[in-house]
Amino acid sequence: MTERCAVVLAGGESRRMKSRLSKVLHPILGVTVIEHVLLSASEAGIDRVVIVANPSNRAPLTELTQGLTRLGAVRSRLEVVVQPRALGTANAVEAALPRLPERGAAVVLCGDAPLIRPATLSGFLEAHAASGSAVGVLSGLVDDPAGYGRIVRDGEGRFSGIVEEAEADDDARAIREINSGCIAFEIGALRTLLPAIPASAKGEFYLTAAIELALERGLDARAYAKVEAEEILGINTRAQLAAATAVLRRRVVAGHMEAGVSFVDPGSAFIDRRARIGADTVIEPWVVIEGPVEVGEGCRLGPFLRLRGGGTVAEGTRLGNFVEVVRSQVGAGSQVLHHAYLGDTTLGRGVNIGAGSVFANWDGERKQAGRVGDGAFVGSGTVVVQPAELGARARTGAGAVVTRSIPAGETWVGVPARRLRGEGEA
Ligand code: UD1
Ligand code: CA
Repeated sequence: MTERCAVVLAGGESRRMKSRLSKVLHPILGVTVIEHVLLSASEAGIDRVVIVANPSNRAPLTELTQGLTRLGAVRSRLEVVVQPRALGTANAVEAALPRLPERGAAVVLCGDAPLIRPATLSGFLEAHAASGSAVGVLSGLVDDPAGYGRIVRDGEGRFSGIVEEAEADDDARAIREINSGCIAFEIGALRTLLPAIPASAKGEFYLTAAIELALERGLDARAYAKVEAEEILGINTRAQLAAATAVLRRRVVAGHMEAGVSFVDPGSAFIDRRARIGADTVIEPWVVIEGPVEVGEGCRLGPFLRLRGGGTVAEGTRLGNFVEVVRSQVGAGSQVLHHAYLGDTTLGRGVNIGAGSVFANWDGERKQAGRVGDGAFVGSGTVVVQPAELGARARTGAGAVVTRSIPAGETWVGVPARRLRGEGEA
């Protein structure tokens, strides 16, 4: 088996985003745009990826790829090369050429198009390999082709080239079949075609000009109209970033529903792509999960809940209305039902946190963690100033301000909280 290689383009200038941050580094559901592409490539069985960066996103991209392989999320071998100046997509691929093997196929992917599905990509690569063509383009039909390269076909429907929007006349602009940006090449052909690509009117070297060149040289080039419009969406603008976020949100939620999670209102759930949720958990409206949070089976979350920064929520837990939980561990069967905040807090099993309670974790200089033992009962409106802790079955009265740790089984009340008189005395 030859290696499956990809070149992922991320060397552009992101001008249309009007952002200091490279567009491929904007997050969607906790994961950067380009990571969604790398995850799809990896799931499609691509063994090796060369990412083309520019001088300013090289460092963050290198760091990100190291994290991805360390975590085992991406199995492809990843490396980053730099395109010194954004002279166009053909010039970007040229920067990757020295890292590609001598023969075999390589697919070029746009680092700004995060919606491509692994199955679509692997199906396309198989069709391309079976065809034996020098070039294969994954295309699709869209309602609004504005901004994309148009697929031009002759009277018999044979593929004759791609015309970029900037160079298209009215007839070409009306074409609704567009280039997804996924283009597979036989590597030998790619090496001879790239240096021959002429500059466009804008002075850029368009990879898409390789099609006409290949055909002129008697090479076979095909376009496979096999991708859904939704998967093609490339992120050039903030509006497209929002549109891609909406699509990925729906997909993530649909994946959880397939795995046995209920969503009362799927449209109002914001679930990080890295989150895990156990079966038979019910998500009420307006739940936001940010970070690689792990939620167990049979929990009831929301309405109006924000879980963030990672952490775990064990089975049978109820986290309710207007609750924020940050980097915390919540033990099985615990309940935090109304207007509460947990920050860096570890709750044992069967803990009940009363309405309006706050576990204060920020002392003005650093985050202080705290712990609550199994079966503890925290009265409404309690403020626990961490690192103060509560032992197992400890209790607090309503409105207690806990500044010292409460031993197991004791009830403390007041401001600052102290042991309830008579409690535990003979
Ligand atoms: C490109 C395609 C277009 C296709 C569309 C799909 C070309 C010329 N056009 O257009 O046919 O329909 O994608 O989304 O290929 N990049 C570099 N270096 C550069 C320029 C761009 O690495 O010098 C990268 C960008 O970071 C981006 C990708 O290549 O990830 C595509 O570039 P972009 O400028 O977004 O091209 P489009 O106009 O969207
Ligand atoms: Ca683009």
